[in-house]
Order: sequence, then structure tokens, then C-alpha cells
Amino acid sequence: MEHVKKGFPKNFLWGGAAAAMQTEGAYDADGRGLSVSDVFTFDSKQDKKYWLDQWHMMTHRQVQEALDPAIQKNYPKRRGNDFYHRYEEDIELFAEMGFSTYRTSIAWTRIFPNGDELEPNELGLAFYDKVFDKLLEHQIEPVVSLTHYDMPLHLVNAYGGWTNRKCIDFFVRFAETVFRRYKDKVKYWITFNEMNCLKHHPFVSAGIIEEGHPNLEQAKYQAAHHQFLASALSVKAAHEIIPGSMVGSMISYLLLYPNTCNPDDVLETQHEERVSFFFSDVQVRGYYPSYSARMFEEKGVVLQTEPGDDAILRENIVDYIAISYYMSNNASATAEQHEKASGNLIGGVKNPYLEQNEWGWQIDPKGLRYALNNLYDRYQKPLFIAENGIGAIDTIREDGTIQDDYRIDYLKKHIEQMREAIHDGVDLIGYTAWGPIDMISASTSQMSKRYGFVYVDQDDEGNGSLKRIKKKSFDWYKQVIASNGETL
Ligand code: BG6
Repeated sequence: MEHVKKGFPKNFLWGGAAAAMQTEGAYDADGRGLSVSDVFTFDSKQDKKYWLDQWHMMTHRQVQEALDPAIQKNYPKRRGNDFYHRYEEDIELFAEMGFSTYRTSIAWTRIFPNGDELEPNELGLAFYDKVFDKLLEHQIEPVVSLTHYDMPLHLVNAYGGWTNRKCIDFFVRFAETVFRRYKDKVKYWITFNEMNCLKHHPFVSAGIIEEGHPNLEQAKYQAAHHQFLASALSVKAAHEIIPGSMVGSMISYLLLYPNTCNPDDVLETQHEERVSFFFSDVQVRGYYPSYSARMFEEKGVVLQTEPGDDAILRENIVDYIAISYYMSNNASATAEQHEKASGNLIGGVKNPYLEQNEWGWQIDPKGLRYALNNLYDRYQKPLFIAENGIGAIDTIREDGTIQDDYRIDYLKKHIEQMREAIHDGVDLIGYTAWGPIDMISASTSQMSKRYGFVYVDQDDEGNGSLKRIKKKSFDWYKQVIASNGETL
């Protein structure tokens, strides 16, 4: 019999999460190569549709422009928030909040600038030694994603991205290199950030450019197959090189409710949910789910596989499941007839019971309790909330303070629901709020879409002193951590 679990466990990991491509900047320092994220532009004259179209699908023309030094555009992810030069100051701020963990990623292009080299770039490796040492100096456990939307651009141009099976070897070489180098510093790893999002933005997730793919679904699922194998082989390598290491898969939990109790809406919800669960099903269970056969048939997908692939997947399943959770949407069999809500990945039908943030993302704390229970019922594996937070326009008042009560309110309500989920019996091991320090938005490349407990003085065009300023939420989160989630 299970005992009733009340409150957060003693060793619960509290902290924040970020990605190299949104924070580091210094895109050409110390031998780093260009990645898929360095191609995204921001232009304040363009509207939201332009940003999201770019996020969902990049074109060959845009990629070639990004490689042309004569074309001067605003590429915000190339400058990030300057973490590359300010990591010490930033980590000290995290330590002041009492973080026991920090989720970040290693920029693949700092270690293998083009992706297909045989030898790593020592200067890139040395940078993460310094970052991890600084974290450990403050007893902050690093949780490291091997890749967070930053495939080397060369692998896109020369190999067609993850549609090419050769990327498995390139990735595994990268993974083994960093496992060997950081084996005494990093125990928790995530292989691919939000792997299910490959379905929604295949360029940034898998280096796929739509032009030239007559059946885009074929390209996406072939790339997914290669990523599954690369992920499984990385799990194997981590377990061999770092005994006791924990390697997680990660999906964006795109929670869906049926728009009505009409069975058509319920079936549509299940159908759309499986688009995401497909990715965790393979990584957690070690085999393709039974529903995938019909799904592939209907999409005209025929996977190219090799003997031994099934065994690799089956023998190297992940140790835990990380999720990002920001919002929920409704699913409907007649979606086109209903008012829509937005999202950085996919939108959905609007839910009249929920409020939205300034970007149209529906705020749904109870949905997090539902999601955690649902995942735990499905897999019975430890869960880790690797991202959760609210993007907002923060303003500095005349007295120099930033009163971000809306952020405190959002996080408080979500943490309350995490506590409920633990009480329900879910094995939740950690929580890293997204964007503890303001950084460039993944989907819109804006700086003004802020998530942090710490404000960074930089605008969408890159002007500003980069000074770090604590927001009201800084002290609030500090006492949440100090009380192990009791004082919210
Ligand atoms: C997640 C990504 O999907 O959402 C992050 O893993 C991203 O990289 C986060 O920053 C928030 O999205 P956005 O578009 O507001 O930055």
C-alpha cells in the first residue's frame, strides 16, 4: 500500500530553466558555429503572424540570407542576454534565490561547430566546465539538455537535418563527448528538448525545411525515428559513462480538453493527444505504440529502418520524464467553426473558463494537476517540470521596482496544483520555472516577452545596458524555495 504524500519531498529540486540559444549570445565567440536558432529575425514592423510563420517553418531563402554577411538584420538569439559573459553574476542571483537546480543546455555548436567534426572544440568544452563549476560551488545541481533547438546549421545545409540517418552518429559523438567531460559534474540529463514539437516546428526541432519535401509528414516521422535512436543511444552511453546518471525525455505537454461531450470531440482530443504522446510513448516504453501503424498509413508515412533499431529503442528507455507546461486548449472535430486561442506551438479552440496572457496563451493551473496525474497513470516514472511560467511585458516603475504580481499569481497557482498532484500520488522530483532571468523568446524572438525573476535591461533591437534588476517575484520565489513550497 502507498502512504499518503503531503507537501513537497525533502529533496525536491527547485530552480529555473533556460536554454543556451536564448541566453548565451556570443554566437561567434571561441569557435562556435551557427545553429538553426541563429537564423530567426525580429522586426518590430512585422506582426505576430510573421513571427509565428517563421517559427513554424523556415525557408531556404531565409537560411541563405542568414549566412550572408552583407545582409544586416536583427538576429536576437545571436546576442541572447549575454550569459556567456555574465554567467557568474547570473548564477549568483540564482543561488541567492536558493536554487537547488538549474536546467540549462549545452550549445551543440560550441562543442562541434559544424556538427560533423571528429574532434570537439576545446574552448567550447571549457566554457561549460566553468558554468557547471560555478553552479556546483553554490550546491546547484545542473540538469542539462543535450540539445534545445540548436542543431548546427551546417547539418541542415549539407545533410538535410535529422531526415538524414548520419545525424545519429554526429549526435551520439557529441553526447559521448560531453558525458565524458562532465561525468563528475552532471548527473541529470535531457536528450532532446520538447521532442514532440518536431511536429509543429520541424526546422528548429529537426532542421527540416519544408520546400523539397513532397510529403512533409514522411520527413518529420523519419527525422523522429532518427532522434529516437540518437536519444536511446545517448541513454546507453550516459549509463555506461556516468553510473547512476538519470536521463530524461522531454515533451511539451500540450494539454487538450474536448470542446464538448460530443463523442466526435472526445475522439478528436484523443487523436490530437496521441500526436504528442507518440514521442513519450516510444522513449518511455521503448517501442512504437500500436496506434502508430494506422497513423502512418493514413499519412502515407513509410519509415526507413535498419535491423537492430527496435532493440536499441527497447533496451535504452529513459529514467524520467520532463515536461514543459504553459497552457491548455480545447480540441474539436469542428475546430474551424470556433473561436481560437493562441500558443507558441499550436493554438486550439478557446476555453471560456480560462483567462489568457498577453500572447493569447490560456492560463490553466488545474490543468497542470490533471497533466501530471495523466502522465503518471500512463508511465509510472518520475516526473520533472522542466518549464512553466508566464511571458509578460514588465515595466520599471519610477522608483526603479518591477511589480510583477501577475507572475507571482501564475506561479503560485501552478505550484499549488503541483502540491495537489503529489498528494494524488504523483512522483514529482523537481520544478524549474521557465526563464528565471529575462531572455530572448523562442517563438517570437522578442526580448520584451519576459519570464524572469530578474529583469535584463535590453530591448527587442538589442539596445540597453544588460544590467540585471530583481523583480518583486525574486523575493517571492526565494521564500517559496526556503519553505520547500509551503509558503506561497
Ligand atoms: C518552450 C521552449 O516551448 O517554451 C522554450 O522550450 C521557450 O525554449 C518557452 O522559451 C516559452 O516560449 P516563448 O516562445 O514564449 O519563449
